[in-house]
Amino acid sequence: MSDYQEFTKQINKKTGIDLSLYKEVQMKRRLTSLREKRGFNDFQSYYNAIAQEKELLDEFLDKVTINVSEFYRNASRWSVLESKVLPKLFEKKKKLKIWSAACSTGEEPYTIALVLSQFLDLSQIDILATDIDDNVIARAKKAVYNERALQEMPTKIKETYFTKDGTFFHLDEKIKKCVTFKKHNLLADSYPGSFDLIVCRNVLIYFTEEAKHTIYQNFSNSLVDGGVFFVGSTEQIFSPDQYNFKVLDTFFYQKNM
Ligand SMILES: C[S@@+](CC[C@H](N)C(=O)[O-])C[C@H]1O[C@@H](n2cnc3c(N)ncnc32)[C@H](O)[C@@H]1O
Repeated sequence: MSDYQEFTKQINKKTGIDLSLYKEVQMKRRLTSLREKRGFNDFQSYYNAIAQEKELLDEFLDKVTINVSEFYRNASRWSVLESKVLPKLFEKKKKLKIWSAACSTGEEPYTIALVLSQFLDLSQIDILATDIDDNVIARAKKAVYNERALQEMPTKIKETYFTKDGTFFHLDEKIKKCVTFKKHNLLADSYPGSFDLIVCRNVLIYFTEEAKHTIYQNFSNSLVDGGVFFVGSTEQIFSPDQYNFKVLDTFFYQKNM
């Protein structure tokens, strides 16, 4: 077994994160550069240090879980959600069950809440948001953002739901209350069910084809018939029919009824 493979086994045991399900070339490149930056010549000695020093472990986890996010990421897709997908889902029921998976620091689930606020009273909105990384979940719960995270946001929404504090923007408590955050590992945990809409964007690109296949199947099982799966803008599904999906619009898949 190679030095890197042995390392992935040890990390899996310690953290529950199975690196072998992430694309190896990319992941190995990222971790090799971090390891070298910290002065370790091989992964075994790097692991020994990680096992002893919490700061090194946190830094390592930060590198594995690429956390970049922003509100209304790829804004044109959110317009499609608002003008086409949600009206279609609302034809059947008013209270939708929604999951934002791999939600990072909260921009994505809060964007869903902000879009839904155009249709519903805020008390009607309840979104589950999950991520593997405790640190991003803690930041998501605080909901304080810099200007960059808000750059794609419509000005009216920004003025209505954010309070500026120096260079930071605080999200309104009423929107915060629409989202419940939980820890969830897409590669290891069981999936909750009966969702009308699942949003999972900009994480599947990091996984192997085999892992993606299992995840798509799990998401399909987690949706109600007619439910919609919204993916990131480089993440089209190859042969969606194998997961009982049909294309509703670019990057939106609907589970067959
Ligand atoms: C680039 S962010 C995407 C955030 C947001 N969905 C978006 O599109 O802006 C990727 C997120 O996936 C999370 N992640 C990585 N591996 C995961 C796993 N196995 N299970 C759940 N979340 C994971 C990371 O912690 C990170 O917050």
